[in-house]
Amino acid sequence: MSYWLDSHCHINDEAFREDLDDVLKRMAENDVRKAMIISSYLEDYDFGLKIFHPEIAFKYSLGIYPGDVDEVDEELFHSYEKLYAEERCDAIGEIGLDYHWNKENKERQKEIFARQLILAQKLHKPVIVHSRDAIQDTYDLMKEYRSEGVMHCYSDSAEMAREFVKLGYYISISGTVTWKNAREPLEVIRNVPLDRLLIETDCPYLTPVPKRGTRNEPSYVVYTGKKICEELGIDEEDFKIQLNENYHKLFGL
Ligand code: NI
Repeated sequence: MSYWLDSHCHINDEAFREDLDDVLKRMAENDVRKAMIISSYLEDYDFGLKIFHPEIAFKYSLGIYPGDVDEVDEELFHSYEKLYAEERCDAIGEIGLDYHWNKENKERQKEIFARQLILAQKLHKPVIVHSRDAIQDTYDLMKEYRSEGVMHCYSDSAEMAREFVKLGYYISISGTVTWKNAREPLEVIRNVPLDRLLIETDCPYLTPVPKRGTRNEPSYVVYTGKKICEELGIDEEDFKIQLNENYHKLFGL
């Protein structure tokens, strides 16, 4: 028996503080039994580590978000570094480059990204990478400081997706694949081998159809998974088995 999973969620976000128990209950009811909880801040990471449901297996990721690099001094960087080395930290992320929100600090973004990639290599931990309007620089750094990892909420071309796969990286698809204007994500899923695909919500953002317009949550990852099966003409059970295999290959058992 295999289950659905959410390879990237922010249920430690304030958006879920009021009704987290219900959110977890809906995950279990919809057979979403595994989830990676992503933290950008130390307080969120601590909170995430305490989230518990008897039928759901959580993993934990921490990383300095590209939008925050101007706020990070050496002391803070060192605090993250110490936590990365701990066994309970399953992955480093989300890290990466975001030139959509800020192109004035490109060099600083690249520096912090590269330093975290180097730590991932050293610690043998996978990376979870955010890239927005910065795909070539992201690719160049991930090629130079190569490790295991996933392109989260992948939103660039199918051609570039194939290049990341060639380097051994996974491609994670979010709810945008269910949206009306989903031409590019649909092209991506047709160009990435199944053994390199993951799915995610990135909740509370990027809610899939038919829930679009409301807060996203991990149980909605099922809409994304089913849409991919429908588009590729593959069996749901087979796809779930493959997803679970990919997830554990990348993030460990
Ligand atoms: Ni995220």
